[in-house]
Amino acid sequence: MTTLIKNGTVVTATEKMHADVLIDGEKVVGVAAPGAHGWVADSEIDAAGKYVLPGGVDVHTHFQLPFGGTYVSDDFESGTRAAAFGGTTTVVDFAVQVKGQTVREGYDAWMALADGNCAIDYGFHMIVGDINDSSLKEMEAIVDDGVTSFKLFMAYPGVLYSDDGEIFRAMQQAAQDGTTIMMHAENGIAIDVLREQAVSRGETDPRYHTITRPPTTESEAVHRSIVLAELAGCPLYVVHMSAKEAVAELTVARDRGLPVYGETCPHYLHLSLEDHVAAPGFEGAKYVCSTPIREKDNQEYLWNALARGDLQVVSTDHACFFFDDDEDTPDRDLPGPVMGRQKRLGEGDFTFIPNGLPGVEERFNVMYQSGVVEGRFSINRFVELVATNPAKMFGMYPQKGTIAIGSDADIVIYDPGTSFVYSTDTIHGNIDYTAYEGMTIEATIDKVLSRGKVIVDAGTYVGSKTHGRYLKRGLSEMPV
Ligand code: URP
Ligand code: ZN
Ligand code: ZN
Repeated sequence: MTTLIKNGTVVTATEKMHADVLIDGEKVVGVAAPGAHGWVADSEIDAAGKYVLPGGVDVHTHFQLPFGGTYVSDDFESGTRAAAFGGTTTVVDFAVQVKGQTVREGYDAWMALADGNCAIDYGFHMIVGDINDSSLKEMEAIVDDGVTSFKLFMAYPGVLYSDDGEIFRAMQQAAQDGTTIMMHAENGIAIDVLREQAVSRGETDPRYHTITRPPTTESEAVHRSIVLAELAGCPLYVVHMSAKEAVAELTVARDRGLPVYGETCPHYLHLSLEDHVAAPGFEGAKYVCSTPIREKDNQEYLWNALARGDLQVVSTDHACFFFDDDEDTPDRDLPGPVMGRQKRLGEGDFTFIPNGLPGVEERFNVMYQSGVVEGRFSINRFVELVATNPAKMFGMYPQKGTIAIGSDADIVIYDPGTSFVYSTDTIHGNIDYTAYEGMTIEATIDKVLSRGKVIVDAGTYVGSKTHGRYLKRGLSEMPV
């Protein structure tokens, strides 16, 4: 089965060209100027006046993650379908090894949840929550299964937290194997003291979530993780960065030539403590996540860091919890309570608000709007941030993240001649709010192709939950 995408403007991280794209089966087999070839295909897509973009690669999602006494409300089926609606064709989710479990048990559990339930291709990072002699050996072994990145936590003491010695040992292991350490960089020990003190003073509103996680708790942890990674000799990728002081630490280290990288997420670029987390009543709970949404003046710093290369990736950290839905969320295979009013677990005490925001559906569009339409960076940089760099960073390039001969035909046909407005009524994930309510996007997704198959067509999902395939990832190929 061959498909010819005709007359579009093909955009990659480095090119913007009027070109046709020929797909044979699952792969791109030709990119050439219209009229400069004699290609005939089984089907044709007319992309005149539209962009032909690589499908988005979101390297930070959480589907079915247990958190704070409940579970993330999107499962692999609803989450990957929402991703597809939003132009994302690859996700890398986090399999979790909890204390007392082996790494393999955690990986197998997540594989069982995802297998046969994904609209798009998926891979796994591994959260290593129990660092010991045997889990260190397992970190090496699981590379053969395509898991080449490991997330550690300096936050959440007593849950996923690792101390500096454990982190350093895992980093030494990563250095030996060529794998990447992903760091949740917050000083969780200090934060826990601040949280306890705030609650004892009666400071229980959602905004105290941000106030008890001040920027220095992030920048100190970023600095410490860089020091440990340099000592161990491993690449470091700092996830969900929100404080300008923390990004500044990363910049200093990168200027020294260290292989350290950072991601931020659309919610840190668009939301603020003033306008969202500190909203009247309990509304701010919608925007509680860690690292926290910060004061507004961080936003422009983060945008500039993306534009000038101090941050390399925009992912979502998609971890959604119902705000106000009375219905129970659908059954899932994981045991434990799943509740419809999940954020309200923290009504009266912010420390019980489950952490996380939806975003897998919105990332591609909001980054195009605020990044490209509003003139913060070029459309090439947009592609680089949402597709190419994430694929390079996590061993999927050039199979994913670009449009080139031999790449998977993961393609978004994007129409800049139309627009739409984000609304809770029209989103597709298993969630009852969007953080971008009312935001106008001056483009619409006309089609999404995953490995050559159209899975979203003019706003209708035409894919299948058995289409998505597990990606055995290689080692990072990200230049410093
Ligand atoms: O608030 C967040 N980020 N929730 C998801 C878990 C994590 O730390 O990434
Ligand atoms: Zn995290
Ligand atoms: Zn996360």
